[in-house]
Amino acid sequence: MAQIFKRRANAIAHAAIAGGALIILGACGVLYALGRSDYWTRTGEPPAQPVPFSHEHHVAALGIDCRYCHTSVEKSSFAGMPPTETCMTCHSQVWKDAPVLQPVRNSMQNGQSLRWTRVYDLPDYVYFDHSIHVNKGIGCASCHGRVDQMPMTWQAQPLYMRWCLECHRQPEKHLRPLDEIFNLAYASPKNQILLGTKLAEQNHVNHEGLTDCYTCHR
Ligand code: HEC
Ligand code: HEC
Ligand code: HEC
Ligand code: HEC
Ligand code: HEC
Repeated sequence: MAQIFKRRANAIAHAAIAGGALIILGACGVLYALGRSDYWTRTGEPPAQPVPFSHEHHVAALGIDCRYCHTSVEKSSFAGMPPTETCMTCHSQVWKDAPVLQPVRNSMQNGQSLRWTRVYDLPDYVYFDHSIHVNKGIGCASCHGRVDQMPMTWQAQPLYMRWCLECHRQPEKHLRPLDEIFNLAYASPKNQILLGTKLAEQNHVNHEGLTDCYTCHR
């Protein structure tokens, strides 16, 4: 009797230990997935903004070029954000009394810039430069997605180090002709590697040191 009881207890204990280990493994898996998931990195979900500015409306419907508002994207590390005057060139005439544009009018009157919530924000210890990417053949859409289809801007890429490195190891996979940089609808051709290799040569894309720590952490 006692013998049987012990055996069963043993079996239960084993099952409990195995089950416990499985639960812990499962929890680790869930935590890992969560840490890398859209939920955690905020990709796919637009943050609240002081004014519901729509790229879909201004870029796709009205056809305004990125450089009209992000004026320094080809020339400097920072893409630049439009000053209130840029909005007011149109909104002193169109929708000039709309309540949603009240913060824009306030900003014009009191001289304080609108405070947009950042959608993309690298940690301070990472160095990034727009101009080099744009001038060597990486399109806005490769990193920011179809901005022209976003009523509110959301993060299309998580900005993990491995994401930067994936392209830095083999930029040929992503290079496009320089006149397609601002074309968000551009699709890479079937022979992308062939084209990319040719473009890399043409535009002097320099692989040397592109994956060195110092390139991005200086
Ligand atoms: C009429 C002005 C205007 C035009 C044109 C415009 N943008 Fe913007 N853009 C803004 C404003 C205002 C914001 C801030 C609000 C927001 O995040 O949506 C912004 C934000 C962004 C952001 C997020 C920045 C961040 O990290 O917070 C990206 C990326 C961006 N624009 C890309 C583009 C691209 C690509 C184009 C061209 C296809 C473009 N924009 C055209 C005004 C403009
Ligand atoms: C080149 C002209 C032009 C510029 C520059 C411009 N807008 Fe607009 N905006 C328009 C027009 C046109 C409409 C749409 C009116 C309509 O619905 O037909 C509009 C609509 C809007 C709306 C209403 C919501 C929507 O998208 O339907 C908001 C909000 C807005 N603009 C914010 C801004 C902000 C903020 C800026 C500056 C960063 C800006 N606009 C710059 C022309 C412009
Ligand atoms: C190689 C990837 C890449 C490409 C290509 C790229 N961006 Fe960005 N963009 C980023 C990153 C990363 C940030 C965040 C920078 C930071 O936090 O310092 C950013 C930030 C921005 C911002 C916010 C202001 C700023 O400079 O931090 C705007 C606006 C923007 N990008 C517009 C554009 C436009 C327009 C294009 C195309 C002409 C473009 N980007 C091409 C990666 C890219
Ligand atoms: C889709 C491809 C792509 C992605 C994604 C990308 N890069 Fe680049 N990056 C390039 C190319 C191409 C160059 C140009 C290489 C050259 O010719 O010097 C470059 C150059 C750079 C340089 C300049 C190196 C120098 O010589 O001064 C820095 C810094 C940089 N990238 C940082 C980043 C960071 C940080 C990220 C991620 C947030 C990133 N890049 C994501 C393609 C990419
Ligand atoms: C192409 C750009 C790029 C290069 C090259 C690069 N990093 Fe990073 N690194 C990033 C970005 C972007 C982040 C921030 C996002 C993240 O944590 O994934 C980062 C984050 C880090 C972090 C902080 C990670 C954390 O979890 O907080 C460390 C440590 C680091 N990098 C070390 C290195 C070392 C060591 C090298 C060289 C072997 C290197 N990096 C090369 C772009 C780069």
